[in-house]
Amino acid sequence: MAYEHAPAQIVVTTPTGRVGSRVVRLLLQAGVRPTLLLRDPGRLDTATRERVDVVQGDQGDVDAVLRATRDADRLFWVNPPPSGDDPIADHTRMGANAARAVEENGIAHTVFLSSVGAEKRHGAGEIDGLARTEEALNATGADVLHLRCGYFFTNLLMDLASLRSGVLPTPWPLDHSMPWVDPRDIGEVAAARLLAGDWSGVQVQAVHGPEDLTFSQVADVLGRAMERRVRAEHIPVDDFRATLRAAGLGEERIEGLVGMSVGLSGDFVPENERDLLTTTPTTLAAWAHAHLRPLP
Ligand SMILES: NC(=O)c1ccc[n+]([C@@H]2O[C@H](COP(=O)([O-])OP(=O)(O)OC[C@H]3O[C@@H](n4cnc5c(N)ncnc54)[C@H](OP(=O)(O)O)[C@@H]3O)[C@@H](O)[C@H]2O)c1
Repeated sequence: MAYEHAPAQIVVTTPTGRVGSRVVRLLLQAGVRPTLLLRDPGRLDTATRERVDVVQGDQGDVDAVLRATRDADRLFWVNPPPSGDDPIADHTRMGANAARAVEENGIAHTVFLSSVGAEKRHGAGEIDGLARTEEALNATGADVLHLRCGYFFTNLLMDLASLRSGVLPTPWPLDHSMPWVDPRDIGEVAAARLLAGDWSGVQVQAVHGPEDLTFSQVADVLGRAMERRVRAEHIPVDDFRATLRAAGLGEERIEGLVGMSVGLSGDFVPENERDLLTTTPTTLAAWAHAHLRPLP
């Protein structure tokens, strides 16, 4: 059967990441052959590699980004986790590359992986860098959708050593309730929007997971899944700074991390309310059961 129209060309960044890999799988299952921009194609499994087109490159290299998106109709853009001394500058640079590709290659629809708190624009640590990317994409005049996501369940994997001893340390106030989400579910929302392609303008959609949780509640859920007592322990901000400094982090990186818990707790009220469209299915209990039993 001949296509009446050529199928949309969809480009996916961070295809080996937690969110990006889910986007890729769903696009393949939808019958799409996406183009993937990634640093190391060897990280793709063979079955995926056979079903995609690959452009090898770093998202920090604007030529690679322009090459990967030359024929793109739709783009899934994720700023890679910052690796330099200044996370906001890193995000800003990545966002500028995305915006340049959208403008120069005339990409009609871009879905961007953003965060709750980006609406603040300033004062949310590293998330300010995602806000700079939202702004850069908005300025292109193309159709863009910002997925403002909650706190990833997978952040807990950074605390495995303390979880083993029954402690969940956090700079967030223990009674602060916020949305927690499985990145896999974010990939599903992103893929749905990339496939739909019939939306327009600048849009924001939050991705909130199934429920808001405090760190105390999270510790209880983890304890039940891991069949051991887990308690949340608040780290005062200055102690958190000192720990990060002792681990060798520079001041911008420290403030990028500290700024998230300071800027998004207290009287911060997210712009996007939870509703049917922002709520995704995977519970923390189900995720913990799958990923923390036995504790890796
Ligand atoms: N954690 C949270 O709670 C949260 C909340 C909201 C938004 N976010 C945003 O989510 C994003 C991270 O998503 P994720 O968790 O799915 O990622 P992830 O699983 O940490 O994977 C990182 C991905 O980035 C790729 N990558 C790293 N540096 C790169 C570079 N210079 N050029 C090209 N690719 C590069 C990696 O590829 P390789 O295979 O080459 O290593 C990998 O695919 C960040 O932008 C973060 O700000 C996070």
